[in-house]
Amino acid sequence: MDPLSLPPDELRRLGHYVWDRLVDRWEHLDEQPPIAPVDPDFGPHSLAACPDGPTDPQAAIDELFDEILPRGQRADHPRFFARIGSPSNPISVLADLIGAGHNTFAGSWTGGAGASAVELATLDWLRDWMGMPASTEGVLVSGGSVGTLTALAAAAQARVDSRDQATAYVQEHTHSAVAKAWRILGFNPSNLRVLRADPSFRLQPAAIEAALGIDRDAGLEPFAVIGSAGTTSTGSVDPLNDLADLAQREGLWFHVDGAYGAPARLTPQGAELLAGIERADSLVLDPHKWLFQPYEIGAVLTPHAGLLQQAFTLDGAYLRDTRGGVVEFRERGPQLTRGSRALKLHLSLRTFGLDAFKAAIAHGIALAEHAEALLEQDPEWEVVSPATLAVICFRRRGHSDEQTDAMVRRTIEDGYTAPSTTLLHDRSVARLCTINPRSTERDIEGTIERMGRFS
Ligand SMILES: Cc1ncc(COP(=O)(O)O)c(C=O)c1O
Repeated sequence: MDPLSLPPDELRRLGHYVWDRLVDRWEHLDEQPPIAPVDPDFGPHSLAACPDGPTDPQAAIDELFDEILPRGQRADHPRFFARIGSPSNPISVLADLIGAGHNTFAGSWTGGAGASAVELATLDWLRDWMGMPASTEGVLVSGGSVGTLTALAAAAQARVDSRDQATAYVQEHTHSAVAKAWRILGFNPSNLRVLRADPSFRLQPAAIEAALGIDRDAGLEPFAVIGSAGTTSTGSVDPLNDLADLAQREGLWFHVDGAYGAPARLTPQGAELLAGIERADSLVLDPHKWLFQPYEIGAVLTPHAGLLQQAFTLDGAYLRDTRGGVVEFRERGPQLTRGSRALKLHLSLRTFGLDAFKAAIAHGIALAEHAEALLEQDPEWEVVSPATLAVICFRRRGHSDEQTDAMVRRTIEDGYTAPSTTLLHDRSVARLCTINPRSTERDIEGTIERMGRFS
């Protein structure tokens, strides 16, 4: 008897049981709060101690479903409008199960030719959707933060002589993942130039040009321009073509953070806003945001074939039998042992087709516009940043920051809906990010109505 398994019939029964519970969860998600209230008495001490002998797995599964996992956010809830949601889909959950069930290894071709082929094919899809050149290579990682770290490590490999002297240019609304990667990679934190955004929350090429002159005069080595294809706070898109021109002119690396916004290129409106994204030297894009995948899946793409390998190849003698395949994904990023993140994106696209994804993204854009129209109709509200890539920011006219924060807090505590806040021009604003294809216009109307009630 295998000490770490159960009889086949029991495994089948438990599997069906878990899947039934998940389907129940999705069917009734709407009845739950999008963010559960924090229980101050809950912590690791609330969990069962590690048993020495076997216990009933179904009881432990029920505990996960009923007591443990409902605590926190439901990022796939149709009224989770906070930060950036993760409106995943059930087929991708099945794909994760299939991957785990095979203990899929996607670090080498010999270790996982099938999984590696799926990853290559999926990366090619992403490349095509982004309009990047045929030379583009990539790797799937855990998300935008590790993607940024991976991309900037590769960029540094290509372009940087002295990490102490290198400078890069971002704007005040650039995601903190960039500053984090900058620091982890050993760049001088004070050489990341955080430039003031224009009134539309976009990076201004003229501000970069001015900073470049000062930095070069000071003997520093400008290295990269980092554009956002959808800032987290407002959805604003930096002028990507202008930044690409500037980077080309000045011999700088052009990195684009499209972690949340890049998939909008699959819609006509998004393609217009994101023009120039295809010129990135490196691009980060998170399928666990606007490509409807469960955590964790981020992608790094670069048209510089071979560069990721240059940055990340470092084998030990014990790996010599595994060399020489079509691709060795361990050579394209920090992980050696890595499961297959591609399976879920692949299987969900195979199941629903690209048109369904395009329609789902367009729906998110339209919902934010619906929110904007409602807010504009009511003189009590002030739109601070218009609907852009499914994000809108607003406040109650005359509200102080404390009142805005309290309105959002009370709205979340009420349990029906979950907006969030951010700071724009140093003032607190309420914010909705409407990327869930299961959110309805009624959900938006109910959300604004409740926020008004709690203001
Ligand atoms: C624009 C942007 N970049 C980077 C990140 C970081 O991504 P992750 O949380 O997947 O590490 C986020 C997360 O929301 C984001 O919105």
